[in-house]
Amino acid sequence: MNTNITNLLKEAQQSIDQSKDLNILDQVRVTFLGKKGKITELLKQLGTLPEAKRKSEGQVINQAKEQIQSWLEQRKSQLETQELNKKLREERIDVTLPGRRNVIGSCHPVTQVQDRLVDILSTMGFVLARGPEVEDDYHNFEALNFLPNHPARTMHDTFYFPDGRLLRTHTSTVQIRYMENHTPPIRIIVPGKTYRCDSDATHSPMFHQIECLVVDESVSFANLKHLVALFLRRFFDRDDLETRFRPSYFPFTEPSAEVDAKFMGTDRWLEMGGCGMVHPNVLRFGNIDPEKYTGYAFGFGLDRLAMLYFGVNDLRLFFENDIRFLEQF
Ligand code: DAH
Repeated sequence: MNTNITNLLKEAQQSIDQSKDLNILDQVRVTFLGKKGKITELLKQLGTLPEAKRKSEGQVINQAKEQIQSWLEQRKSQLETQELNKKLREERIDVTLPGRRNVIGSCHPVTQVQDRLVDILSTMGFVLARGPEVEDDYHNFEALNFLPNHPARTMHDTFYFPDGRLLRTHTSTVQIRYMENHTPPIRIIVPGKTYRCDSDATHSPMFHQIECLVVDESVSFANLKHLVALFLRRFFDRDDLETRFRPSYFPFTEPSAEVDAKFMGTDRWLEMGGCGMVHPNVLRFGNIDPEKYTGYAFGFGLDRLAMLYFGVNDLRLFFENDIRFLEQF
């Protein structure tokens, strides 16, 4: 029996030492100490031994059992440490590696110019106003003094919806919308998208305008000229910028003019947009008494201003959204 135990111990020690992981080690434990384990079987057989032998034999088996238990414990903690170290090695993060850089975009050049225009006019006492891009005939034409068969309507190349609504062809619509809800004094600046059925190097079906409206007592054409000249000089940051007003026609202004600007040292006049004194009919459509109040307005092509400001020669570049182009601003 004793040689049996000695062999069993040797066998156990070997198996424990060779256990490569905790699962195998647990199988070894079952083989020796489990319900049907080798040691357990020996203990069961004790009952068959004669009285005298039972006690000493029992001690020997129990010692062996304790010995195996303690080997198992040791090996277990060894394996646990090994597994922990392996895990730590594999899941290591090098916090000193440089981070991955996100590509950050920048403000679109047209938006930059729009912000700049709004900034400049805000310091001159104007407030920002906006209106819908899907409009009705009333706000885009009728209330701006385009009578139903007015020839100027055809100059606008309007996009119509089947229900008769339209994409606004200019930001002048907001003059009416603002007057509907406000009383003079009015000083608004309206940047926004506008639409016309037109497309070439200087025309895009979607483009931007910036509109100004002033309505107050004793507002004059001289005030309009002063504001436009001052505002353009500030925008281009050129004190020597020259402006000129050419007589023109718009249904919603009387008198009307077109504004040109010229940079010192060049001999070409560049067209900025239209302006004029608000037509009395337009004030009436806005519920404002033309006997008491007068007003002036102007509407400039915002993309044109952006092209000149950044020196871009094809309008379409602004709307193709080619990153290589946009990155330059
Ligand atoms: N709405 C006109 C257009 O798009 C531009 C314009 C002309 C606006 C004269 C004005 C104005 O406010 O007074 O062609």
